[in-house]
Amino acid sequence: MQDRIRNPELRSRVMSAQQAAALIRDGMVVGMSGFTRAGEAMAVPLALAERARTDPLRITLMTGASLGHDLDKILAEAHVTARRIPFQSDPGLRRAINAGEVMFIDQHLSETVEQLRTRQLPGVDVAVIEAAAITEDGGIIPTTSIGNSASYAILAKQVIVEINTAQPLSFEGLHDVFIPIYRPNRMPIPVVAPDSRIGLPYIPIPPEKIAAIVLTEKHDSSATILPPDDDTRAIAGHLIDFFQGEVRAGRMDNRLAPLQAGIGTIANAVLHGLIDSPFHDLKMYSEVLQDSTFDLMDAGKLTYASGSSITLSAAKNAQVMPHFDRYKSRLILRPQEISNHPEVVRRLGLIAINTALEFDIYGNVNSTHIMGTQMMNGIGGSGDFARNALISVFVTKSIAKGGAISSVVPMVSHVDHTEHDVDVLVTEQGLADLRGLAPRERARAIIAHCAHPDWRAPLADYFDRALALGGHTPHLLEEALSWHVRLRKTGRM
Ligand code: COA
Repeated sequence: MQDRIRNPELRSRVMSAQQAAALIRDGMVVGMSGFTRAGEAMAVPLALAERARTDPLRITLMTGASLGHDLDKILAEAHVTARRIPFQSDPGLRRAINAGEVMFIDQHLSETVEQLRTRQLPGVDVAVIEAAAITEDGGIIPTTSIGNSASYAILAKQVIVEINTAQPLSFEGLHDVFIPIYRPNRMPIPVVAPDSRIGLPYIPIPPEKIAAIVLTEKHDSSATILPPDDDTRAIAGHLIDFFQGEVRAGRMDNRLAPLQAGIGTIANAVLHGLIDSPFHDLKMYSEVLQDSTFDLMDAGKLTYASGSSITLSAAKNAQVMPHFDRYKSRLILRPQEISNHPEVVRRLGLIAINTALEFDIYGNVNSTHIMGTQMMNGIGGSGDFARNALISVFVTKSIAKGGAISSVVPMVSHVDHTEHDVDVLVTEQGLADLRGLAPRERARAIIAHCAHPDWRAPLADYFDRALALGGHTPHLLEEALSWHVRLRKTGRM
């Protein structure tokens, strides 16, 4: 206990999860730790769901990003979550959002705390933060993620800390907590390289703000990513060829530019593909560090990785965590407003690789809404990176649901990333380099290189007939969404 709660006075604030959860009342705004299923507080949210069975309770729940351990499902089904900000990836919560039962505010991940500190969002009443330890001065040492935890703890009226004794004390020193100076005196964010350390190794809050401490012993949920398959390997292959072209053209050398890779199976597989490539001394400036980060380090390809969370499969977790000290000097976890900061992304000149659900013949990308209406996960950090990166890449398989759906469509049914934010599109079929191309040229490249052969001719037919009508970005407005309408009516585009 001395190691975990180093401020002796705070030890008297240890209590049960139920007692701590009593601080959270109906209608409150609660900011919780947790980012891509890593580092979430668990005991207090479970106690809230339990209490809501007999004592109805509705809160606005803010986190870093997605929560593990089915917490979003449990809280949604207990009707605790009235509003949810800024990201989720849980099928149960997704159902409640799409049924209109939960109001979901789908936000660029770098923006939430900016809106909070400028009081554009209602203030946080209680923060619930998972920690490895609390320092002598009340500083909170986070676990596998930082996300928005630092600002939630700093801005909240009261803080509940869940000390997770299953997480090693060796996490101390991994984190770099930097809070930008408030406007109008804001100074540049001093990150000039992926390994820049600019802040504190803990979240600084006065000890008197810590109203309750709950002891837990839990492991993070495992990542749900699938291993690389033929299609994701092909996508990785096309990208590696493209990077080699960039090197040949003298635009970068074999160290490439710092890499950002989004969540999910495809992005992880693409990074994995770099193991068998001529590139070396790579660096990541990303948001979530997945299995591939550690595989690349083990292969001697990656020298440094900066992120906001570490989310691993069960197998990779078992391999990495017992030897965490081996990796620690090459890792840094930052608040998500810094890992995703537009200023830093632009300064470092990242290669940003994110995933699309669908994109259209002009390069507009939909990453969030199935059929333009049903929320999948949210935009996450993809927009923070895509707009500001040196090269903004979107990847996806060319078809979904056994070929009934073409991921390349005449017009996307929802736009997350406009054509202006998209430089390169890749499917297993090939790669379209859109840089310097006008819409009519982009359409030809996308149809030729990215579309599945089954859908290439219908797309070319649409484009040709649209061309006959003219325009900078030719469209047949009556038909632009007809593929989606046909899918809804017949089960096939
Ligand atoms: N229409 C309908 N469904 C589609 C589709 C389309 N055009 N394209 C894919 N799908 C379905 C897949 O069939 C799959 O369904 P299933 O879960 O029933 O099997 C599901 O969508 C997920 O697709 P998958 O190919 O497994 O992709 P993924 O796990 O790599 O996730 C995103 C893809 C887009 C959902 C995910 O990357 C995401 O949420 N991105 C937005 C947030 C983000 O980019 N953050 C980046 C910074 S971390």
